[in-house]
Amino acid sequence: MAVESTSPQNSAENVGKAQIGVTGLAVMGANLARNLARNGYTVALHNRTSAKTDDLLSKHGEEGNFVRTETLQELVDSLERPRRILIMVKAGAPVDSVIESLIPLLDRDDIIIDGGNSYFKDTIRREKECAEHGLHFVGVGVSGGEEGALNGPSIMPGGSKQSYQSLGPMLEKISAKADDGAPCCAWIDTDGAGHFVKMVHNGIEYADMQVIGEAYNLLRSVAGLEPQEQAEVFKRWNTTDLNSYLIEITSEVLSQVDQKTGKPLVDVVVDQAGQKGTGRWTVQSALDLGSPVSGIAESVFARALSSSNPEAREQAQEKLPAGLIASTGVAKGDEEFVEDVRKALYASKLVSYAQGLDMLASAGAEFGWDLKLDTIASLWRNGCIIRAELLGEIMEAYKGDNAPVNMLLAPGFLETLEDLLPSWRRVVSKATALGVPVPVFASSLSYYDGLRRDRLPAALIQGQRDFFGAHTYQRVDEPGSFHTLWSEDRSEIQTD
Ligand code: 6PG
Repeated sequence: MAVESTSPQNSAENVGKAQIGVTGLAVMGANLARNLARNGYTVALHNRTSAKTDDLLSKHGEEGNFVRTETLQELVDSLERPRRILIMVKAGAPVDSVIESLIPLLDRDDIIIDGGNSYFKDTIRREKECAEHGLHFVGVGVSGGEEGALNGPSIMPGGSKQSYQSLGPMLEKISAKADDGAPCCAWIDTDGAGHFVKMVHNGIEYADMQVIGEAYNLLRSVAGLEPQEQAEVFKRWNTTDLNSYLIEITSEVLSQVDQKTGKPLVDVVVDQAGQKGTGRWTVQSALDLGSPVSGIAESVFARALSSSNPEAREQAQEKLPAGLIASTGVAKGDEEFVEDVRKALYASKLVSYAQGLDMLASAGAEFGWDLKLDTIASLWRNGCIIRAELLGEIMEAYKGDNAPVNMLLAPGFLETLEDLLPSWRRVVSKATALGVPVPVFASSLSYYDGLRRDRLPAALIQGQRDFFGAHTYQRVDEPGSFHTLWSEDRSEIQTD
């Protein structure tokens, strides 16, 4: 790498140069490049094979100023300094390979941006490596799918604060805007913080999708509502406090009729859910942090149960006894039951968000990030997959000095929960009695009850640990650690 001092961005040598380069022009990269160009930036384009670059230029070249480049060297040469290069390639080894190729071509203070769903520990490592070469590396979480990338995603940038000064205005300009006009983009904190927050966003996304799935399953198998009928129910629910992108698209998916068979599309789709890894990473990281994201974990496991062992599912359908303690559902479309399901869904959704935010708080302490939960909630208000009316309330709850120690304890949510609880308990009981799986509804209710329980059986677990491993316990009435001499006279000793 040639280490030269950089010129300010408005200097003469920058005249006519592109303001940002994008390498990797699959749909997310192409749409972000178009979004940047539509917002008035000159964008240099690069792809491993030029066919994709040419395709973008022939279809959308009119949308703004693009610079066509064929090699990374050309890409680098086409950019104003300090250079900003957005990498939009598959997470994992391809990102390392592009970084490796770019490093020798760049100068001090240039910025490499990774807008993929990279694992945050990779981002921390890459930032260190780039810093050794005098370069900034910014891991940016981008949510909103293809449509969001084009029209305004929610953007979660990490990396150095200095790099945000150069990059922030651009990212804020292309991001979605919340109803109050605020950009759904803000600097999260250093190194991997942006990708960490995006990962937790996806964990919440998994739980959000799973609770909707559980509601659909109950409405279908207990209340007998067909997909087309449910499409109307979800449309109605979208006008309540459940209002969100995921509820909106659920209605769209449920109303879709398969063109080949005339059946509801949802009935011809194989019921095995895929996953690319971000939900799993959320749970793995939560385990490392000791953060109880039980609902998010159940949603990852529910996907795994659907797809990991089809043969076991097939045999279980025939052989595993049902042991039902109720045999009939409710009358078709029973309004009270439908409303109970809506409330159980909302309560479980609240728990998923509470768990995700709690995990962010633990991560902040562990990784030395100052994660501002009100800011994070604010930039999830629009553009991203979990955008929901609820996020405005969450943002308000965390504003100022009175942030709750757990989201559920914010005064507004306490009132809401009081209203939701009877329905939530009825739905979990009914589903259990009828043998309908509700892993996230049920585990979220257990989390809720676990939080509010005055005495948990953890005391007994401490006793067991002390019995077999002399792991000691603490007493409710005295400070210090204690051990009972279980195999001797069972007297107690203080160990510190
Ligand atoms: C988003 C999405 C996006 C993507 C994920 C989920 O925020 O725009 O989360 O990142 O759809 O990769 O994919 P999986 O369900 O396959 O894990």
